[in-house]
Amino acid sequence: MSGLRPEEFAVYAKLVRDLTGITLDSGKEYLIETRLEPMVRELSLKGFSDLYYRIKADSTGALARKVIDRITTQETSFFRDSSPFDMLKFKIIPDLIDARRKTLPAGAKIPLRIWSAACSTGQEVYSILISLKEVLRDLSGYSIRLLATDISDSAIAHASRGVYQSGEIMRGMPADLLARYFASDGGSYKVKDEIRAYASFKRWNLFDDFSAFGRFDIVFCRNVAIYFSDEDKRRLFERIGRVMENDGALIVGSTESLLGSSQSLEAKRHLRSVYYQKKGV
Ligand SMILES: C[S@@+](CC[C@H](N)C(=O)[O-])C[C@H]1O[C@@H](n2cnc3c(N)ncnc32)[C@H](O)[C@@H]1O
Repeated sequence: MSGLRPEEFAVYAKLVRDLTGITLDSGKEYLIETRLEPMVRELSLKGFSDLYYRIKADSTGALARKVIDRITTQETSFFRDSSPFDMLKFKIIPDLIDARRKTLPAGAKIPLRIWSAACSTGQEVYSILISLKEVLRDLSGYSIRLLATDISDSAIAHASRGVYQSGEIMRGMPADLLARYFASDGGSYKVKDEIRAYASFKRWNLFDDFSAFGRFDIVFCRNVAIYFSDEDKRRLFERIGRVMENDGALIVGSTESLLGSSQSLEAKRHLRSVYYQKKGV
């Protein structure tokens, strides 16, 4: 099989951008080569051009979804960067609950709607739910719903199963929380239903309209917009702002900033972390 030619890279970069919004500048040829070469071999094709025509001719969309699975970077871990989860427990959740208590009738369940907007294989989802359980303890007074979405079929299926190998668990899951919230089964660990039951999982491209998801108190959109162009990033965060409650909070990746990417959201600092709220809250 021959390598990726420059004109093939240009065609694939456009394909990836159209499918996912991810921009691949020159220098990223190796990504196409290493991640898509197995597809060329599996389909017994001669090279990348043949694969491209096969993807375009596939009316089921299955090959395009396979490209998405392969090309997306699903790097994640439990309690990634740790401090955002402390901020969630000790600042964002208490503030929201105080605000909701003031407006709800006594005894009413407090609604908490959360969106993990590019959840990868689910470690973020379960880190959020475990943080809620750890800080609130008895969840019966709350109506908690977490929507977990990702563009990758394989990632969202993994997230929904909630089963992790010890290598994945070792990346960030403390032993005491592992014992409390997971059941071990041979070499793997399954998140307990008492936690998983709060989450629902959906394959979703962030470039598609998500206004029908309703409104959220908390949105996690971490380590995904870094792959998008500045303009796409700006539009995405504006659209996320529109599905946030007026006092809702947005948490982005620790290396990300919305500076210049959002007119309507502003940064709030809490200890070592930052979250975003609508201006004027
Ligand atoms: C690096 S992971 C981040 C996972 C998690 N949020 C974290 O911070 O650990 C990026 C995820 O974004 C997803 N992704 C990439 N483009 C996307 C898009 N257009 N819509 C939705 N998800 C996307 C990928 O499939 C991948 O699982």
